[in-house]
Order: sequence, then structure tokens, then C-alpha cells
Amino acid sequence: MQLLCLLVLFIGFFESQISQATTSWNETYPKGQVTRVKNVDVYTVGSNAYSTNDLSVIVIYDIFGFNISQTRVFCDRFSAQYKVQVAMPDFFRGKTASLHINNLTTVLSVIGNWSQVSSDLSDVASWLKGTSPSHRIALIGFCWGGLQVVRACSNLSTLFFTGISIHGAWLTEDEVRQLQQPMLFIAAGDDPPLKPDISSVIEKWTSPRVANQCQYETYSNMKHGFVSAGANYSNPENVIAIDDVHEKVRNFLDRISRNSASSTHHSMRCFSVFLFLFLLNII
Ligand SMILES: *[C@@H]1O[C@H](CO)[C@@H](O)[C@H](O)[C@H]1NC(C)=O
Ligand SMILES: *[C@@H]1O[C@H](CO)[C@@H](O)[C@H](O)[C@H]1NC(C)=O
Ligand SMILES: *[C@@H]1O[C@H](CO)[C@@H](O)[C@H](O)[C@H]1NC(C)=O
Ligand SMILES: *[C@@H]1O[C@H](CO)[C@@H](O)[C@H](O)[C@H]1NC(C)=O
Ligand SMILES: *[C@@H]1O[C@H](CO)[C@@H](O)[C@H](O)[C@H]1NC(C)=O
Ligand SMILES: *[C@@H]1O[C@H](CO)[C@@H](O)[C@H](O)[C@H]1NC(C)=O
Repeated sequence: MQLLCLLVLFIGFFESQISQATTSWNETYPKGQVTRVKNVDVYTVGSNAYSTNDLSVIVIYDIFGFNISQTRVFCDRFSAQYKVQVAMPDFFRGKTASLHINNLTTVLSVIGNWSQVSSDLSDVASWLKGTSPSHRIALIGFCWGGLQVVRACSNLSTLFFTGISIHGAWLTEDEVRQLQQPMLFIAAGDDPPLKPDISSVIEKWTSPRVANQCQYETYSNMKHGFVSAGANYSNPENVIAIDDVHEKVRNFLDRISRNSASSTHHSMRCFSVFLFLFLLNII
């Protein structure tokens, strides 16, 4: 009996070694393709056709841009595990801002200014609503993209029901003050602290609905960039942290979805009671 158990264990171990050897980190999940939406290229992966999660995701990349394997693999994995369509637009139009570290803000104000980003986000959001059966869209942004998520959850809050900033950069008090949708903020150990810098401003200035649902997570053993272009899949600690980020993001989206479903449910119920009383009155 014991021998059999050992044998099963051994075979299990052997099989996992084989599957690890034949699949490298960037080959594990089905890949997407690039399509043109209006005047912007979009990397899109997965579909919502068989999904119970009534949402799609737009990913906003970091300053390294569109062609980064780590960022694409995040999209592939998120889509496969959460069973949703994920779309990542090429805001920089084939360019990358990372080549201009010396005048990054100047370059970003040209290739990644808010008027361009907001118009791309609106275009991709209406394309997603047309192609997919789900009607809600969440945003996930890395580094520079994290700031764009904050802006979209402030000024495009009718298009997006929530957002997630992963090692977001340039998150100032003025930017987060105007949030209209709840957000999950994830920081690395060398990012500016989320608490109390960001959280206290959100608690003071935004509505209780937004403030109470926001969540703050810090990976103190990780460095800025650890989930997107800076991800090092040869480093076991980095891999564990990425696994954890995926789980936290999925759990956060579940929670926000439940809350928004129960609030519409609640208003539906109020409405039925209202209608009932109204009809009674007429009779
Ligand atoms: C996948 O990862 C391997 C090993 O890190 C690398 O050699 C290869 O270029 C990567 N492929 C893609 C498409 O990123
Ligand atoms: C990304 O890859 C595409 C096709 O391989 C290429 O045309 C484009 O110039 C690349 N962009 C960047 C920023 O490297
Ligand atoms: C700074 O950015 C501009 C683009 O706005 C570019 O033309 C210029 O070459 C950059 N200068 C340096 C020193 O990188
Ligand atoms: C914003 O970005 C677009 C696209 O790169 C560019 O055409 C426009 O001039 C930029 N606006 C400003 C104020 O730099
Ligand atoms: C968002 O809208 C507010 C109020 O209209 C405005 O003050 C703010 O500058 C806008 N933010 C962005 C990033 O456009
Ligand atoms: C990635 O992690 C491995 C293992 O910790 C390390 O040897 C390697 O230098 C790292 N690569 C980079 C680019 O940091």
C-alpha cells in the first residue's frame, strides 16, 4: 500500500517536471491577436461567450508599451483564469516611452496625453460593448497605466465600473481626489506608500460608496514594475507575487461585482414594492 502511494507520488512528481520542462512561462495560456479598432491597434485575448462573469477588461500598459511579453502574458493569463475578454490598446502607436527616460514627462505628454488616452478608451469601450455580450468594463493599468486608470475612474466613470492600479506611477492627491468608482491599488515596496498618502485623501474626498470599497495592497519584497515589463519569471519570489496579484485582482472584481449586483437588486426590489403599492392604490 505504502509502496503504491510512493509510486503514485513519484509519477505525479515526474509528470509535473515534464510539463514544466515543455511549457515555458509565456506559453502556458492561449494567446490573443492584434486587431484594429478605429485608429488604434488592440491586443485582444479570450471571449465572454461562455462566461458567468458579466464583464470585460481593458489593460493599460506601462511606459514600455505594446510588445512586452510579460504584459501580454498578464492579459492571456487573466483572460484564461477569469474567463473574460481582455483588450490592451496601443496608446503609443508603436512607440515606446522608455527610450526617453531623461525627458519622460515631455514624451508622455505627446504620445500618451489624456485627451488621446481618453478618446482611445472610449473607442475601445464601445467596440467591446458591441462585440461582447457583457456590458460592464473594468480597467487594469500598470505604472503610467495606473495613473490613466485613476483618471478614467474619475472622468470616464460612466464607461467603467471599477479600476485596478498595479504599481501605478504619479498618483497624486489631486488625481485620486476625484474618483467616482472604487479602485484596488497595488504597490511595490519601492513605490510611494499607499497608506496614508493615497488612502486618506480618498477617504476624505470621495463618496462613501467609493471610499469604503477601495482596497490597498503592498508587496514590500517587490520592486516597481514586478507584474509587467519588470517581471522576472526566473525569480521564484517574483513568480509567487504575480500569482498572488492575479488572485487579489480576481477576488476584488468578484467583490465589486457582487456589491453592484446587490445594489441593483435592492433598487429593483424597492421598485417592485413601489409598483405594488401604486397598483393597490389605483384599485
Ligand atoms: C518566452 O520565454 C522564453 C524564455 O524566457 C524566451 O526565450 C522567448 O523569447 C519568449 N517568447 C516570447 C514570445 O516572448
Ligand atoms: C511591435 O511589434 C510589431 C510587429 O512585430 C512592430 O511592427 C512594432 O514596431 C513593434 N513596436 C515596438 C514598440 O517595438
Ligand atoms: C525629448 O523628447 C522629444 C519629444 O518630445 C524628443 O524629440 C527629444 O529628442 C527628446 N530629448 C532627449 C534629450 O531625449
Ligand atoms: C496629444 O497626443 C496626440 C497623439 O499623440 C497628439 O496628436 C496631440 O498633439 C497631443 N496633444 C498635446 C497637447 O500634446
Ligand atoms: C476631470 O474632470 C475634472 C472636472 O471636470 C477636471 O478638473 C480634471 O482636470 C479632469 N481630469 C482629467 C485627468 O482630465
Ligand atoms: C532574474 O532573477 C534571477 C533569479 O533570482 C536572477 O539571477 C536574474 O539576475 C534576474 N534577472 C534580472 C534581469 O533581474
